[in-house]
Amino acid sequence: MKTKIVLLFLVLMGQYLQADDGHNLWLRSKNSVPVNIVCKASSPTLDIAKQELKQGWQGKTGAAIVLLVKNDKAIKNDGFKLTLNGVQANNDFGVLYGVYELLRRQATGEIIKAEICNPSYEHRVLNHWDNMDGSIERGYAGHSIFWRRGADAFVVTEKDKILWQEYARANASVGINGAVLNNVNSNPNMLKTETLKRVKDIADVLRPYGVKVYISAKFSSPTAMGGLKSSDPLNPEVIKWWQDKAKEIYSMIPDFGGFLVKANSEGQAGPQDYGRTHADGANVMADAIKPYGGIVMWRAFVYSTSNEDRAKQAYNEFMPLDGKFHDNVIIQVKNGPIDFQPREPFSPLFGAMKKTSIMPEVQITQEYLGHSIDLVYLSTMWEEFLKSDTYQEGKGSTVARCTDGSIFPQKHTAIAGVSNVGLDANWCGHLFAQSNWYAFGRLAWNNQMTSEQIADEWIKLTFDKVSTDKNPLSNDWTDNFLKPVKKIMMDSREAAVNYSMPLGLHHIMSANEHYGPGPWWAPARMRKDWTPPYFHQADSLGIGFNRTKTGSNAVSQYHEPLASIFNDVNTCPEIYLLWFHHLPWDYKMKNGHTLWDEICYHYNTGLHQVQQFQKTWDKVQPYVDAERFENVKERLSMQVKNAQLWNDGCVLYFQKFSKKPIPSDIEQPVGKLEDIINNDLKRPMPWAKR
Ligand code: GCU
Repeated sequence: MKTKIVLLFLVLMGQYLQADDGHNLWLRSKNSVPVNIVCKASSPTLDIAKQELKQGWQGKTGAAIVLLVKNDKAIKNDGFKLTLNGVQANNDFGVLYGVYELLRRQATGEIIKAEICNPSYEHRVLNHWDNMDGSIERGYAGHSIFWRRGADAFVVTEKDKILWQEYARANASVGINGAVLNNVNSNPNMLKTETLKRVKDIADVLRPYGVKVYISAKFSSPTAMGGLKSSDPLNPEVIKWWQDKAKEIYSMIPDFGGFLVKANSEGQAGPQDYGRTHADGANVMADAIKPYGGIVMWRAFVYSTSNEDRAKQAYNEFMPLDGKFHDNVIIQVKNGPIDFQPREPFSPLFGAMKKTSIMPEVQITQEYLGHSIDLVYLSTMWEEFLKSDTYQEGKGSTVARCTDGSIFPQKHTAIAGVSNVGLDANWCGHLFAQSNWYAFGRLAWNNQMTSEQIADEWIKLTFDKVSTDKNPLSNDWTDNFLKPVKKIMMDSREAAVNYSMPLGLHHIMSANEHYGPGPWWAPARMRKDWTPPYFHQADSLGIGFNRTKTGSNAVSQYHEPLASIFNDVNTCPEIYLLWFHHLPWDYKMKNGHTLWDEICYHYNTGLHQVQQFQKTWDKVQPYVDAERFENVKERLSMQVKNAQLWNDGCVLYFQKFSKKPIPSDIEQPVGKLEDIINNDLKRPMPWAKR
């Protein structure tokens, strides 16, 4: 009898622990029961909704569920109303989102009650930095799912279609409704007819899932591919060129979303090349697509080689243009004023441009946060950002409220995330990087959600735990798997900040793919604002960028009381200390440590946190299938090495300036600074091996 029980247990465990490549994301097949779907209408989208219900229903057997498309003023855009026996929405997409919500709640054990769920943003977009040759800028999960080079570059295979459909489904399940299909550093050939045909093929697959396609358009396309002599936005021929291009695109893709544009930024052409403004450039492109309902997302990621603090430049350039953009232009602003660093204060443009639609851009792909090697759950970072108070319209003017239409009557609202998706079997390289795709969608839908709730959902859905009373492993699973894994996720971003850029340090990463430390990197002829010493300013007296009134005065770009809070070293939050202040090495921190000691402690703490993640993960092995367990285990061991490298490299490098001992109660670095610097640019990236 005992042997039989053990055998049965092993068979059952075997089902749980089968190898799994992670391809199914958070949408794993369920042990569903029959459901009666009542829905008079039919459409490709509603058919998907019905199919999802059938294959995922975990409620009462044979329950009658009503899907209804009927206008209700309380429902906004593609929101929905959840009732105890169904979903109502103004359009088919709303019904689909409602169905996903219903199924998610069943799978995670969340209460299903009558409730209206409206999206925070109208456009919830993934920006793919995919190149037409299939490579991905800052992509760490294989090649593009949309583009490839070679003779079959434009052939649409069955495999392509299946992948695009799975991609669209994953997006729809979390409410993402747009995809920019190519890199912001765009190739002008994107607008060629043969390329547009492939864009149309992709759009046809994505459409039933409510995902619109967008293109990153090169500003100089009229000259670079159109054969015109100029791309001056005010030149009538150029205006006509964009109008004709828009007509062509919309004749192929009637619901085309619009253009994303990086102009006069990092070498990209732009209206300033012709003495025109960003507004001139954006408006001409926006006017061309306005008749068809398209939008232009115009990026504010601009900085030049001037002596002005790089953190101030976007604000300086865009504020004078407030009110000059047409109403189908949205200015896409990165969360921080520099560039997707592990921690930045919010960009001062949020809430400041009051007569212009503004959208946040966050980076899901982990360019500065450990690629697809380090486990970093980014939701806590985005939550911190969205909840930051700009004070622009009084207390409570959070970035979320300044961008979602709650405070300013924006014609359009949107949010974008730079995608981390590639051809890797599990889409994102690191299994936990999937949680960042998931979290972006959930926050785009509801910018008030907490990261903890999102992590909770993601773990339950990804690790296939059905939280019903029927499951005998329920308590054990919750205590020994859900809670510890959630803790890893919730602590992971702060750990990454600790071991890489604590206390407001920023942009001190290696020039080698931006992975690992590189505070020393400053080749003689390199632009200063691309080198780490420009940002950390370490010298014998101290460290940090003085952005107070006695320095670059970037603090003045923030609304009071923030400007004063940041300006005063006694009130500046310590998480931003060296972002705003240059301080002596023996400056006394609030906890009594000297600044130098505190820097050392942060690096050391970060390293210990990752070592702890490793121990925790080892303990949860019985709850995860072998393949996914190994995926994470292998990466955690690389992350520990990375954290050690950061610790050793930064502490030893900064010690050259501080000339102070490393506190004796923490481990001394194991590496030698000289070796670390010599190997810096030679270290191979593990993901590049593929
Ligand atoms: C960063 C990144 C670039 C990217 C740029 C952008 O600088 O390193 O690869 O092109 O951001 O957002 O435009």
